[in-house]
Amino acid sequence: MEPKTILWPLDPHTLGKHSVLRNYLNAWFPILGQKNQRILIIDGFAGPGQYQGGEDGSPMIALKALADHRAKNLISSEVVFMFIEENQERAKHLEKLTSSSNLCLPPKCSINVINGVFDETMTQALDQLDAQATRFDPAFVMLDPFGVSGTPMSVIQRILQNPKSEVYITLMYEAINRFKCTPEFEKHLDTLFGTPLWRTGIKISDPAIRKKFFYDLYEAQLRQAGAKNVVHFELYEGQRLVYAIFFGTHSNKGCDCMKQAIWKVAPFGNFKFCSSNIGQLPLSPDFTDFSQLRDALRKSFSGKGWVKIEDVMDFVASDQTDFHTGHLKKKVLVPMEDNGGILIDASTRSRRRVFPDGTKLRFL
Ligand SMILES: C[S@@+](CC[C@H](N)C(=O)[O-])C[C@H]1O[C@@H](n2cnc3c(N)ncnc32)[C@H](O)[C@@H]1O
Repeated sequence: MEPKTILWPLDPHTLGKHSVLRNYLNAWFPILGQKNQRILIIDGFAGPGQYQGGEDGSPMIALKALADHRAKNLISSEVVFMFIEENQERAKHLEKLTSSSNLCLPPKCSINVINGVFDETMTQALDQLDAQATRFDPAFVMLDPFGVSGTPMSVIQRILQNPKSEVYITLMYEAINRFKCTPEFEKHLDTLFGTPLWRTGIKISDPAIRKKFFYDLYEAQLRQAGAKNVVHFELYEGQRLVYAIFFGTHSNKGCDCMKQAIWKVAPFGNFKFCSSNIGQLPLSPDFTDFSQLRDALRKSFSGKGWVKIEDVMDFVASDQTDFHTGHLKKKVLVPMEDNGGILIDASTRSRRRVFPDGTKLRFL
């Protein structure tokens, strides 16, 4: 339920979303910020930038990720922050907060607080670029609504037309499930999914199968909108699903960084992140069952002869698995080598149980 006040108390679960955002931007800035003339951080549902207890909101987290970045001096791109907030008082609060902050941001950096609606503001900006036959700059776009309205798939599709743009979306599944049969919400769900096909989900009586249907449809729509990789993770408090995060990107590296950002956060407090693809297992640093990653590698590479480690890394980075490249060598390839599950071309590396670039391996 949307709070009526300008600021509201920080829900403990929001910390999870914020930590993932911080971790991801720490990786994103140096990757994108060295090769592009200009990069954009767009927080489409920015909020006031602060919570009642003084904790940072997502705009301040994004600004601090840059201001406090260890590699800040290497970031040569112009960095444009665009914070869109519908509520006038919250937008004013954010404006004041950002203009009075003592953040040590690089000189080629600008902050724009826009009091407006995400959908219209973004559409106007994209129309202007189209009129000038100019392409949208590489952007990280965060969409964090309270409910199910205001994040049209048609706008996401236009954002993803830039091959370097990415979307990080909070999907409020509980609200979708609650309002799926409410006539006033039909138009919101049509816009959210970008298709009327979500109505098929209403007829599914099994809650788990219904949820999978809605997730699969949302993922398919993001892919159709242009995302080459789509990963999603769910945040649970005990048995209660709080929300799901969907991330869409063209880049395997981006996908890998997001998976690392999520694994790094989980679990926190009473909350656990789960990935539906690894059987609802909570992610954690103590995770020990990497058999699914091993099986996925076998399925993809067995019978393909010698393959380069770089290709194996690229596969693990992509959305074909919910594991990330940090899991590959020690957790999976070393045990596989010890058990005779892979052969290594000895001429491509100097010693056993390491897999530097150029190593060739064969899955049996
Ligand atoms: C969940 S809060 C955002 C919290 C913020 N992202 C954070 O993590 O600190 C959603 C915010 O979006 C604003 N909002 C609601 N509908 C909007 C829309 N269509 N466009 C832009 N902002 C909107 C609300 O006023 C609210 O401040």
